[in-house]
Amino acid sequence: MLTLGKPGKRYTPITIDAPFYQAGLAGYSDAAMRLIARKHGCPYCITEAMLDHFLIQGGKGLEHAYLKAGDHGPDNPLCGQLMGSHPQDIARGAKILAGLGYDVVDVNLACPVKKIKKKARGGHLLSAPDEAVAILEAVVDAVGEDVPLTVKLRRAYDDTPEMTDNFHRVLRAVIDLGYSGATVHSRTVQQKYIGPGSWDELRQIVEHFGLRKPNDVAFTLGGSGDIWQAPDIFRMLKQTGVHWVSVARGCIGNPWFFQQARALMRGDTEAARTSPTIHQQREVLREHFEISAELHGEQMAGRMMRKFGIKFSRHHPRGDEVKKQFISTKSLADWQAVLDRWYAEDGPGAPYEVTIPDEAEHVECGEPIGAG
Ligand SMILES: Cc1cc2nc3c(=O)[nH]c(=O)nc-3n(C[C@H](O)[C@H](O)[C@H](O)COP(=O)(O)O)c2cc1C
Repeated sequence: MLTLGKPGKRYTPITIDAPFYQAGLAGYSDAAMRLIARKHGCPYCITEAMLDHFLIQGGKGLEHAYLKAGDHGPDNPLCGQLMGSHPQDIARGAKILAGLGYDVVDVNLACPVKKIKKKARGGHLLSAPDEAVAILEAVVDAVGEDVPLTVKLRRAYDDTPEMTDNFHRVLRAVIDLGYSGATVHSRTVQQKYIGPGSWDELRQIVEHFGLRKPNDVAFTLGGSGDIWQAPDIFRMLKQTGVHWVSVARGCIGNPWFFQQARALMRGDTEAARTSPTIHQQREVLREHFEISAELHGEQMAGRMMRKFGIKFSRHHPRGDEVKKQFISTKSLADWQAVLDRWYAEDGPGAPYEVTIPDEAEHVECGEPIGAG
């Protein structure tokens, strides 16, 4: 059982019953993806990064990012992720998120997307540690009593010793300021999403900060990077000593990831290697589209769901052909046509394989919410 939050605050700390969660994934992890993940055993989710200015300006369409309990089940516990450049703006954004009822607020110091108008934000703040610490302080002052706070980081801006020192300085501040936890992506900012992450660097961070459990530091450290299949979660926990693991590209079009991880927790290795049947896949494809259409309208859902369909197709025994048809979907009618053609008859899904899907390496990171 993991806890996010500190005793003696106005808020109640939240507990999470599994050592993994669904990462923030700009362009993907909206309420539709989150609700489907939760139905498959995901205990905790993070929103896509939201720009502080987007929140301050009224958050047009914010209901798209945050769906209160509805017909598809509750979207809690939910962490709202914030990104920005100015301490006071990001603090205002944090207040808005806390006021909206997000269970946790996360500050993004990880996003590698280029500086906008010369202002550092996201991972670029790891090369400007004074600015990063000023942001962390302002957020604590604004909402530190109202909601548990966490931070998303990269393991450094780049591989120079200076940037390692900067990272240490920022994570030290995160811990000392009373943040409840942080997740470290094992790639540098410069690396973006290219090449493997360094789990060994994660292990060194755990050792450097004395965070290996059991310890007396009430701080939850998450690891991120190269979690392609459920067993990777448990390998990362063991190899690095992080307390929990963020599942990102590996769960796009693959909510069964969480079911398989739960099966591994029970020691049921057979269930952990079971692929979803065609009809199980059809039900998820149908519901994901339905929730997306409720959130975004049918037309927008038609455009957004194509990229999910492409990922889902790899569970189908005739995945290449299914993928081709998903590529050309634009509307609910197109989507339904794929389901009618390829998912009408039940049968076993594609066999479970412990391989890194090639195309998973090439998922493009979307813009944070409010950047458009
Ligand atoms: C399409 C895409 C969008 C992402 N958006 C976010 C985001 O909004 N917030 C965040 O903290 N990380 C974001 N990330 C980073 C992931 O959460 C994760 O740290 C990264 O993909 C490494 O994990 P992986 O190698 O297992 O995919 C994004 C990554 C991708 C590929």
